Amino acid sequence: MRALITGASSGLGRDFAIKLSNIGYDLVLVSRNKEKLEELKGKLKTNVIVEAMDLSIKENVYKIYNKYQNKIDFLINNAGFGECGDFNKIPLENELNMIDLNVVCLHILTKLFLSDFVKKDEGTILNVASLAAFEPGPLMATYYSTKSYVYNLTMAIYEELRRKKSNVKIHVLCPGPTDTGFNERAHVHFGVKSLTSDYVTSYTLKKIKLKKLLIIPNIRMKASVFFVRFAPRKLLLKMVYNIQERKLK
Ligand SMILES: NC(=O)c1ccc[n+]([C@@H]2O[C@H](COP(=O)([O-])OP(=O)(O)OC[C@H]3O[C@@H](n4cnc5c(N)ncnc54)[C@H](OP(=O)(O)O)[C@@H]3O)[C@@H](O)[C@H]2O)c1
Repeated sequence: MRALITGASSGLGRDFAIKLSNIGYDLVLVSRNKEKLEELKGKLKTNVIVEAMDLSIKENVYKIYNKYQNKIDFLINNAGFGECGDFNKIPLENELNMIDLNVVCLHILTKLFLSDFVKKDEGTILNVASLAAFEPGPLMATYYSTKSYVYNLTMAIYEELRRKKSNVKIHVLCPGPTDTGFNERAHVHFGVKSLTSDYVTSYTLKKIKLKKLLIIPNIRMKASVFFVRFAPRKLLLKMVYNIQERKLK
């Protein structure tokens, strides 16, 4: 069995790599930082191939698929980043780069590997979204929107597969604050206690085994999704704005 993990050089992707290797998966690890990927490879006991590349560049995403077409059993679309600030101030280039990574790369890999999986009627895809998928995100507008896309895309594909009684599995992980390199890149500090990446990845792999479609790592996070569903939209916007504003301070 072989898994391909995007964004494997740190945080959730790194921990998924360690855990999957520990249960016998060979791995293809993709992200930009070759040194970090090689350092991780040195710690793992299964066969690991390192692909150091920028996945916000579409040609690289196709290169990855063309190289590993029909050679992957488990795809983890994890690479992603956020940026906090006023929509009117964040440079457009940064946002387009975020959309290219969080949305376009994930879309292409999901589409192409899914077609391989459907042909052999087996395979698993895990798409990493966020709690941000469930609401609009003032002061992090583009990031929240990208994660809504990931959530909705995954849900829709799940239903299509289910109707066909396919053995291909698709899951969406929606974590809240988790202690990784995410904050540093987004230039923020979480105002609430975060989970460890070790906990989130263990929990996720357990839920995948149980064939759970939507994976939300703890009860507090599940409660917040429940609240969001029923809260008046304008109240929700004010609350999210305040949370994000606190993160910027
Ligand atoms: N941490 C949280 O609180 C949290 C909450 C909800 C959702 N998430 C989601 O979880 C996923 C993983 O993030 P994380 O929290 O583990 O953060 P992280 O530690 O910053 O990891 C992000 C990974 O993505 C890779 N990456 C970034 N830009 C890339 C690019 N252009 N091309 C290829 N790889 C790239 C990074 O590696 P390189 O720098 O080596 O490229 C790194 O391996 C993201 O999709 C994030 O949105 C995180």
